[in-house]
Amino acid sequence: MAQHVQPVVDVSPPQPPDRRWLAEAVRRIHADANRSADTHLVRLALPAHWEVELYLKDESTHPTGSLKHRLARSLFLYALCNGVLRPGSTVIEASSGSTAVSEAYFARMLGLPFVAVMARSTSPEKIALIEREGGRCHLVDDAGEVYDVARRLADQVGGHYLDQFTHAERATDWRGNNNIAESVFEQMAQEPHPVPEWVVVGAGTGGTSATIGRYVRYRGLPTRVCVVDPENSAFLPGWRGDDPEETHACGSRIEGIGRPRVEPSFVAGVVDRMIGVPDSASVAATRFLHERTGLRAGPSTGTNLYGALRLACELRQTGGAGSIVSLLCDGAERYAGTYGNDVWLAERGLDVTPYAEVLRRAWDDGVWTG
Ligand SMILES: Cc1ncc(COP(=O)(O)O)c(C=O)c1O
Repeated sequence: MAQHVQPVVDVSPPQPPDRRWLAEAVRRIHADANRSADTHLVRLALPAHWEVELYLKDESTHPTGSLKHRLARSLFLYALCNGVLRPGSTVIEASSGSTAVSEAYFARMLGLPFVAVMARSTSPEKIALIEREGGRCHLVDDAGEVYDVARRLADQVGGHYLDQFTHAERATDWRGNNNIAESVFEQMAQEPHPVPEWVVVGAGTGGTSATIGRYVRYRGLPTRVCVVDPENSAFLPGWRGDDPEETHACGSRIEGIGRPRVEPSFVAGVVDRMIGVPDSASVAATRFLHERTGLRAGPSTGTNLYGALRLACELRQTGGAGSIVSLLCDGAERYAGTYGNDVWLAERGLDVTPYAEVLRRAWDDGVWTG
């Protein structure tokens, strides 16, 4: 008996996505990248006879002033190309500040409203920066609430929660595409030790360390990744295998890095070592960097520098030679009223004094006394 032809099930969305709007949105983001020069790789002036070189990738020179310019660009392209952003979509993010500053910039470029959900303790300078980029700040008392509040807000207004903590590791192309790792290795190519022994970074979402750790493995490079972690963060205890119940990570005082939980974009498998850095040491290192180089950076750069100097001393102590690369994540101007203010530091029991000598011995003598 002849089989009858079953009709296909043909479904189209009631409101097909506006592909012309989408194409224009993607074009604008590419044009922004095309207008931007790559960030500098700065060689720090350690004693020449050491055969140990230290470099900082200066991400503060991005149009929105931090390493988060790259992530924000990737997150918007990821959301656009996943078809979840449309004309007029409200974009929402849970951010301690830097990411929101960069996302507000891209949202305005696409003509989309932007809301950042963040802890009320975030520096007023960062809040002002987000508002200057056309964003709105939704402040919450408990930093741990930012995720749920952002998700709820997105549901309420029919907007989209970009969710950097979940998507950072997958929105960034870790194989290349001018990601931060590819840029660093290209800029190291003519240096005495072009393949670094270590790349030292902090973790906020974990996206930067994931991108660099995957890239060096993808390229078959021996470079190892060391993640520095501030006090009260869950990353180091989590990576070490401590029982989360025992960790009591209440969130870090160093803006941008250290988290109350191990974030989904933190890829432990590509981290070769972790160093816990005291918060006062992070602030001391930021000041020491300015004193020795004139570079003005935020506290998470101090955390990076303190860890990188420890590894430089170790390399020297073991008679090794090689290069170490770290990041200058953002500029000091964002922290003038906080980490740049001695009264603010004293009120929080942060004392840079004991670390000045540790940093001097490390930088001048290559001896670690921390
Ligand atoms: C100033 C600053 N430094 C470092 C980081 C860490 O970067 P990632 O989120 O890629 O781990 C962040 C993240 O927010 C940051 O804002």
